[in-house]
Amino acid sequence: MTQKVLVVDDNPDMTRFLARLIGNALHLETPVAGSAEEALEILKKNTVHCLLVDMKMPGMDGMELLRNIKKNDASLPVIIMTAYGAIETAVEAMKEGAYDFITKPFEEERLLHTVRRALEHEHLLRRNLDLERRIKEKEKEIFFVGESPRMKELIDTIKLVARTDVTVLITGETGTGKELAAHMIHSLSSRLGRPFVVVNCPAIPENILESELFGYRKGAFTGANTDREGLFQTAQGGTLFLDEIGDISATLQAKLLRVLQERELKPLGDTTTRKIDVRVIAATNRDLEAGVAAGLFRSDLYYRLNVVSVRTRPLREIPEDIPLIAYHFLSLFCTELGLGPKKFSDDAIRFLVSRQWKGNARELQNLIKRAVIFSKNDLLTQEDFGSSALAVAVSEEAPELYGLEYKERRKKVLTTFNVEYITHLLQSTEGNVSLAAQTAGIERQSLQQLMRKYGINSGVFRKDAEKK
Ligand SMILES: Nc1ncnc2c1ncn2[C@@H]1O[C@H](COP(=O)(O)OP(=O)(O)O)[C@@H](O)[C@H]1O
Ligand SMILES: [Mg+2]
Repeated sequence: MTQKVLVVDDNPDMTRFLARLIGNALHLETPVAGSAEEALEILKKNTVHCLLVDMKMPGMDGMELLRNIKKNDASLPVIIMTAYGAIETAVEAMKEGAYDFITKPFEEERLLHTVRRALEHEHLLRRNLDLERRIKEKEKEIFFVGESPRMKELIDTIKLVARTDVTVLITGETGTGKELAAHMIHSLSSRLGRPFVVVNCPAIPENILESELFGYRKGAFTGANTDREGLFQTAQGGTLFLDEIGDISATLQAKLLRVLQERELKPLGDTTTRKIDVRVIAATNRDLEAGVAAGLFRSDLYYRLNVVSVRTRPLREIPEDIPLIAYHFLSLFCTELGLGPKKFSDDAIRFLVSRQWKGNARELQNLIKRAVIFSKNDLLTQEDFGSSALAVAVSEEAPELYGLEYKERRKKVLTTFNVEYITHLLQSTEGNVSLAAQTAGIERQSLQQLMRKYGINSGVFRKDAEKK
């Protein structure tokens, strides 16, 4: 977009001259106004990046116009033009927030230079404001949403725990916000600004997990070609989040216990120990106590980890919070995808509240994300929840399916789901298969296989399809 400089002067020769000078030299658009009142009208309807304003005008003068503009948009630069010798006015204008002033008659080069600088300044300011807004949005993501007594209790516990430096064990079903809780504890603690390192224990093979956590020296084992820093070291000064700790081996349990007790560790193959200053937060969706009783998890490690415990809530225990959490996800995704605000219909909210959420908040989040991507309307209704809405409908409202064998029924549901899902997906990417696969989080080949299976041709979704 070409930047716009609005020139305001009651002398038409002057506005014409300035508009031509700035327009030609800086390749900018230069609308003009013959009075302050006219300038305000233009500002109401147009985006302007800088103003050049004459001080002395009949009616509203330049100073008054400046005050008016600054009240509405403090980051819009206004350059004031004053008569030679009217330095007091210029000083006053600067106090009122003018970006700079120019005395008439002026040198063209100096004027152009001032305008150029003002535009750069404006650009920077806007970018900073934008960044600030985006950081605020990000911050919103690391807080629990919910106002039920149970959620309030959870949030209060997190705030209390964050003020201490103790090890925390977070328990809760999948998708209930265990990682969110850990992140929030870190963000509210004095360790904010230091690393927050997440280790998804079951995702890393047993034999590698140990070297990942503690690091190793070159030659410690075959394949150790260089020294490698462990994740404890990476988290130095910050917080280490050990997710799904219930699955780690007995050997690793022993090593971890030692690190927690001694607050120091020795990388594999090293002879010297190093002090570590890391807060450990662990999480599990298993019943660790039962694991201890069954002899699968060391009791001494369990007590070390469980200095304080935090339990995150499945959605079925906080149904009254579902609408709030749903709206939270909705606004996050709309912002993320650069869309305007959207709303849920009453039946959509009823559907979301009454649904069984095995995957808890994460499942709710995924469902809403998909609905936002596929729906073209600003009002999301139950139908926008696609296959899940469909799956419910099949069991409750499709009696013609009841007589079929399980396999047949499943096939039918799957076909409906696949066809609907893939069609929507390709519609949203205008037939771009790679992008569609990426959006759906599957391999391109798998998507192509599905398309072949269900006879879906990406060509028909392309924008230029009609022309061919
Ligand atoms: N009450 C809540 N308010 C806002 N976001 C939530 C809430 N509960 C969970 N989330 C979000 O849901 C997603 C899943 O949570 P996560 O912490 O990964 O769950 P877990 O680790 O227990 O499987 C994350 O994006 C998290 O930020
Ligand atoms: Mg998790």
